[in-house]
Amino acid sequence: MTIRATVKGVGHYLPSRVVPNSEFEKTLDTSDEWIRTRSGIERRHFAADDEFTSDLGTKAAQNALDMAGLTPDDIDAIIVATSTPDLTFPSAATMIQQKLGMTRGFAFDIQAVCAGFVYALANANGMILSGQANRVLVIGAETFSRILNFEDRSTCVLFGDGAGALILEGETATGTAEDRGILGVDLNSDGRHRDMLYVDGGMVSQNTGHIVMQGNALFRQAVEKLASTATTALTKSGLGHEDVDWVVPHQANIRIIQGTAKKLGVSMDKVVVTVQDHGNTSAASIPLALSVGVERGQIKQGDLLVTEAIGGGLAWGAVVLRW
Ligand code: UT7
Repeated sequence: MTIRATVKGVGHYLPSRVVPNSEFEKTLDTSDEWIRTRSGIERRHFAADDEFTSDLGTKAAQNALDMAGLTPDDIDAIIVATSTPDLTFPSAATMIQQKLGMTRGFAFDIQAVCAGFVYALANANGMILSGQANRVLVIGAETFSRILNFEDRSTCVLFGDGAGALILEGETATGTAEDRGILGVDLNSDGRHRDMLYVDGGMVSQNTGHIVMQGNALFRQAVEKLASTATTALTKSGLGHEDVDWVVPHQANIRIIQGTAKKLGVSMDKVVVTVQDHGNTSAASIPLALSVGVERGQIKQGDLLVTEAIGGGLAWGAVVLRW
C-alpha cells in the first residue's frame, strides 16, 4: 500500500477579451498567416486593465473547488506557478488564499516559467507523500500581456493570459502503475541557457521589463528535451509510450507539440491541443489544457496522462498521472 496524490477537481478561467491574430496586423509587420503557420496560434485572451494574475487564479481555483465539491477551508496548501505575480511580494498564492476566503493552511508561489506547473505538481506530490499536506490546490496563472513588448513581432504575437487549477488529495493506493494519481515525475534545469528566454526587468532595472527570446534556438532545444523528460517520467512510472491515453503538453507552438508527439511515438489524436485558442500562457497552459480536455470529454477518469513543459532557465520536466 502507498499514498498517491489523486485528482479531485479541475477548473480554469480565461479573461473575456479575445485578441485575434488580425489585431497585430494593424500595428506590426506581421500576418495572421505567419502566426498560424509558424506557431499554430489563432487567438489569445488578454486580461482587463484592472484584472491581475491573482484574480485569474482565484476564479480558476473556485471552479476547481466547485467541481470537487469542496470549500476553501478544506484545502491544506495552495501552490501557484507564475512568473507574473501581481506584486514582487507577497506571493500570488497568499493573495488567492485571501480572495478565496481561506483562513487556514499555507500558500506560496513557484517560479519555473513555462515549466512552472510541472514543478508545482512535483512539489504538491512531495508534500502529500511526506504528510505535510493532504489536499493541495495547484494553480498555474499568468498575465504575460503585461510583460510583452508590443513592438517586438517575434514575441508579442505568441503569448496570452489565463489560469488553470487542479486539486490533489492523498489517497491510499496499491503502489502499482494502475493506481490513479501521480505516478512519476522528472524535473531538469540548465542555467547555461538562461539567455534563450528571459525578462529584462527586475531588481537589476527596477522595473518589470519585457520578454526577450531566441525563439529559433529554443525551438531546437524544445522537442529533444520534452520527448526525453516525458520518456524518463514514463520509465520512472513503470510505463511506456504505448500506455499513454493523453499527452497534455505545454502549449507554446503546434510544431513543437507535433514534433514531441512524433518522437514519443504518440499520435496527434492522443494530444490535447489548445494553443490555437490560448496562445502560450506559460505556467497556465497545462492546467488550462487539462480543464479544457475534461470539458471537451477527451480526458476521462482512469486515463493515463503525460504532461511536459519547457521554458526560461532553461527549466523543463514531465509528470505522469492517471486521471
Ligand atoms: O514557452 C516557452 C518556450 N517557448 C518556445 O518554445 C518558443 C520556441 N520557438 C518558437 O515557437 C518559434 O521559434 C517561433 C514561433 C518563435 C518562431 O518561428 P521560427 O520558425 O523559428 O521563425 P524564426 O524565428 O526563424 O523567424 C523566421 C522569420 C524571420 O525573418 P528572416 O530573418 O527569415 O527574414 C523573422 O524575422 O520570420 C520573421 N518573423 C516574423 N514574421 C512575421 C518573426 N516574427 C514574425 C512575425 N511575423 N510575428
